[in-house]
Amino acid sequence: NILMAHNPGIALDLEWVERSVVDLPAVNRRAATLLTRRTVKKSWQAAWLLRAVTCIDLTTLSGDDTSSNVERLCFKAKNPIRQDLLDAMGMGDYDLTVGAVCVYSARVKEALDALKRAGGNNIPVASVATGFPAGQVPFETRLKEISMAVKLGATEIDIVISRELALTGKWKQVYDEVKACKAACGEGVHLKTILGTGDLGTLTNVYKASLVSMMAGSDFIKTSTGKEGVNATLPVGLTMVRAIREYYHKTGFKVGFKPAGGIRTAKDSCAWLALMKEELGDEWLRSDLFRIGASSLLTDIERQIYHFVTSRYAAAHQLPMA
Ligand SMILES: *[C@@H]1O[C@H](CO)[C@@H](O)[C@H](O)[C@H]1NC(C)=O
Repeated sequence: NILMAHNPGIALDLEWVERSVVDLPAVNRRAATLLTRRTVKKSWQAAWLLRAVTCIDLTTLSGDDTSSNVERLCFKAKNPIRQDLLDAMGMGDYDLTVGAVCVYSARVKEALDALKRAGGNNIPVASVATGFPAGQVPFETRLKEISMAVKLGATEIDIVISRELALTGKWKQVYDEVKACKAACGEGVHLKTILGTGDLGTLTNVYKASLVSMMAGSDFIKTSTGKEGVNATLPVGLTMVRAIREYYHKTGFKVGFKPAGGIRTAKDSCAWLALMKEELGDEWLRSDLFRIGASSLLTDIERQIYHFVTSRYAAAHQLPMA
């Protein structure tokens, strides 16, 4: 088990927040290069896809979640790629699993039990809390939901900031809320803070919200709930990882990054890995500092790996799940 990122946070530095500006055209140009670069060589591509698998927060967050959904998700978390395909790639003995499973707080215990049955006790369970996805519940209720999820055994908590506070520049209040959530998590539980970037208006605001969330002690910052009108985009990702880089240079604390929302294809996952590698370096390519929140991405990755191994595309019944 890799040790997760841990960020104790710092005092709110409003002067730093206020002077931050993002150059939108420059960010867009840079993001475009990540998409148009020559594709990674074939054998490397397969290695990158396996790497992406280990960084997936395999997620089920629908109103109609059932225990059989959760059971299936947890089995897949432990067995993300068919064993014969892994064997063919010489990866059969690696105990390849996803980074975590991510469920609603009411499903944490079920997920832990299902992981145990699947032999995946080492896989962390992350819970969304704080009135996901809108964050529109009283603050006390949000803190209680965190405590409950932690009590049930979640070791990672994904919270949503109050977009309204961020949009109107009430950074002290954003800071205080995130800091209170971190305290509610307690020792050894990792806080992932969702900015809801689709609702934040400008990239400068995304940068500021990233800084404030990190100052308040977020161990990860995450783009989206998947329920905003706009999902994780590369320009937003670039903006956030550059905030992570600046925060690391100033404080020495490494904060992780989690793009989420609308990431469905193997090709997308490679673009995100390239972004991490080029902006933050190899260390940020591991599941302790990088996660991709996704539900159907794994299906496409497994399809691509099937193709890599067999040179054929799989029929639907050959790769069950999704
Ligand atoms: C965002 O992502 C979610 C989850 O993948 C998806 O259901 C939704 O349709 C996406 N929304 C947009 C606007 O692309």
